[in-house]
Amino acid sequence: MSLKTSHSSLFTPHSLLITGGAGFIGANFVHYWTRNYPDDQVVVLDALTYAGNRANLAPVENHPGFHFVHGDIRDYSLVLSLLENHRINTIVHFAAESHVDRSIHGPDAFVDTNIVGTHSLLKAAKAVWLDSPQSSTLSPQSTTFRFHHISTDEVYGSLGPDDPGFSEQTAYAPNSPYAASKAGSDFLVRAYYKTYGLPMTISNCSNNYGPYQHPEKLIPLLILNCLQGKPLPIYGDGLNIRDWLYVEDHCRGIDLILRKGSIGATYNIGGNCEKTNLEVVKIVCAILDELKPLSPDSSLLTPHSSLITHIKDRLGHDRRYAIDAGKIMRELEYTPVESFESGILKTVQWYLENLEWCKKVMGEDYKKWLQQNYS
Ligand code: NAD
Ligand code: TYD
Repeated sequence: MSLKTSHSSLFTPHSLLITGGAGFIGANFVHYWTRNYPDDQVVVLDALTYAGNRANLAPVENHPGFHFVHGDIRDYSLVLSLLENHRINTIVHFAAESHVDRSIHGPDAFVDTNIVGTHSLLKAAKAVWLDSPQSSTLSPQSTTFRFHHISTDEVYGSLGPDDPGFSEQTAYAPNSPYAASKAGSDFLVRAYYKTYGLPMTISNCSNNYGPYQHPEKLIPLLILNCLQGKPLPIYGDGLNIRDWLYVEDHCRGIDLILRKGSIGATYNIGGNCEKTNLEVVKIVCAILDELKPLSPDSSLLTPHSSLITHIKDRLGHDRRYAIDAGKIMRELEYTPVESFESGILKTVQWYLENLEWCKKVMGEDYKKWLQQNYS
């Protein structure tokens, strides 16, 4: 999204409202933030949908300055009161319906949370940060407040095999209801900057992986199905390409944008790591062949790759995503730390060490979802 932006200015978040902080990336971000900035106040607002899990925040429950609020971003008066009572100066907005396959089965929740929910946050931020009588004494707003919106590379649509990666200038062309709802929310954030001067930034990142990811997504699904000796469902020919980003690298990118990013700017964050789904599944299988040659939950013997099963393709399945992360690398000196090899090994090890967590998130709801999507 190309926007005229103001010059980069140093900003200091100190009281953060993190929406969706009980989900995958949000929880990793809360862990990252409390570890790196232990004196800051961190308020998590999360509706605890099927994708949110309070246990994801267990390591920070006793951290001073950490507060958990069970609530919905669409609850405007709740958001207003949180911004006022906690004197929030930074909103980091992760909360969303995030799974493409679910958006194909039921798009309504995506419009409600991703578009209407984002608008509720924007409206509240404007009311408290820009319109309230005290705000006139707090200028300039751009150095006092920040609204950071987490978006996705999926808003840019699908690339051909030889196309350059998505840059911040690439035109939006969302293909799934999920991607369209994220695009809608990005446009609302942009509009609140252009129209009202709300100090905002946006990041569009590629596919994340790492600890605490819900097993409806490809990588944890593969790990957990391997452990149970279940088929590894690969849509279509398995040659769709994603650019994989280790979740902690994503968190570092957001941190840089908050502190040093230009108001009104978009930054693309990627892992510089394109892989076909078949490459990913084979790497996961090879790691498990080493670490778990005999799964406790099945009589399966290696190789795990014998479980790979091609199934009917996803509707409207985007063929290739790739991010050109040149802007954030040049302007904010960002570089991803993890290679896919190091990040995926850490990820598999985390799932092996957290089987109780896995059992918890693979309850009745999850079984219903598998039935609905894969039968
Ligand atoms: P997730 O599905 O794991 O977590 C979403 C969280 O939002 C959950 O904790 C859920 O309870 C909460 N939530 C949902 N609706 C809510 C509502 N109405 N009010 C309050 N909380 C609500 O998602 P994720 O993978 O952590 O993704 C986080 C953000 O990053 C999303 O905005 C997503 O679009 C974006 N993103 C994700 C990826 C990825 O690979 N996971 C890639 C690019 C962008
Ligand atoms: P996913 O983790 O759902 O992320 P996204 O759709 O946002 O990229 O899927 C990553 C890739 O893996 C995507 O090309 C779809 C494919 N995929 C499968 O082949 N089988 C599956 O069961 C799932 C969930 C995904």
